[in-house]
Amino acid sequence: MTRVPSDADADVLVIGGGIIGLAVAWRTAQRGLRTVVVDPSPGGGAAKVAAGMLAPVTELQYGEEPLLRLGLASNQRYEAFAAELSEASGGRDTGYRQCGTVAVALDSDDREELRELHAFHRRLGLDSTWLTGREARRLEPMLAPGVRGGLHVADDHQVDGRRLLTALRAAAEHAGVAVRPAEAVELLVEGGRAVGARLSTDGTVTAGQVVLAAGPHSHRLAGLPEGVLPAIRPVKGQVLRLRIPDAYRPFLSRNVRAVVRGQHIYLVPRENGELVIGATTEEQGYDTTVTAGGVYELLRDAHELVPGITELPLLETSAGLRPGSPDNAPLLGPTSLPGLVAATGHYRNGVLLTPVTADLVSEYLATGELPALAQPFTPTRFSSDRSTAKALA
Ligand code: GLY
Repeated sequence: MTRVPSDADADVLVIGGGIIGLAVAWRTAQRGLRTVVVDPSPGGGAAKVAAGMLAPVTELQYGEEPLLRLGLASNQRYEAFAAELSEASGGRDTGYRQCGTVAVALDSDDREELRELHAFHRRLGLDSTWLTGREARRLEPMLAPGVRGGLHVADDHQVDGRRLLTALRAAAEHAGVAVRPAEAVELLVEGGRAVGARLSTDGTVTAGQVVLAAGPHSHRLAGLPEGVLPAIRPVKGQVLRLRIPDAYRPFLSRNVRAVVRGQHIYLVPRENGELVIGATTEEQGYDTTVTAGGVYELLRDAHELVPGITELPLLETSAGLRPGSPDNAPLLGPTSLPGLVAATGHYRNGVLLTPVTADLVSEYLATGELPALAQPFTPTRFSSDRSTAKALA
């Protein structure tokens, strides 16, 4: 069911050409819908900065079981998604790597927290193994001697967000998606329905359905009626990229993470020798400045975990904005404005949730049916008018 006015420019207009927008567009075009993506810098957004850890189990938060189901579903799809994407993009490598993750504790309070997380994993039937400090260091000899124990989660993996973006754009264009480097400056609404957008380049794109996938900018689109979308807050993350010289390899064989002084720190070693260290969590608006304080905190905390990092060349510092919804879960599917569909608000999980988001949202766009897995995440949970969207679902 495409509900396309015959004279529209496209069946689907996707506003936002980051990882989510490109993946939704790729899947939508594969289903035979004429699809246009607009973005001032296609292939940018948070995934360009992200470490790309695929960690639904080690990042599990209490009370977020529906999000866990979504994350596990996406993680399970990743291998096939990466293989299909590689083929569809002319053989591009996505950096998908099945490496597992260790989450470790640096003091007895951290260890107690990890023990509780481990018990929670066990209650939910998740694959998670308790490690003594010695066992953790046997798996990862570069860990600090002071590591007090931790968890090994064999199914939490990694992918390279930058390579994924490049491959997604190529695959989307190959499938027929038109990627237009322009900003959507206003949502066009006619007769109580979203019908397209006006662009910064002066023209308009009209479409049967409009997907809002503009991360933390989604709710700021002019013309969006009040109450349709909650504010998506920008949550800054600063990230470092180091290089592991050949002589030091294997430096780490798995993702390594910990919570140090209440901050998440993780080290993601790529097969090509890049080591990504992330990430700060800062709520300061749309600023993406890399600060001395942010870099200092990351290096200090990573050094407590893996002292040998100070020997490695530092290649790059960067900062991106995670799109945080009011409950930190994504917004997927129809909004209360007919014709407007959301694929945004993925907060810390955008890279992880890309395959499942693309499948669920493209299914809705093609059939008008929102799959059950997406229903806890409908944007109408925040809407001041739930009735219209309920009728649409
Ligand atoms: N998923 C990791 C982060 O947002 O920092």
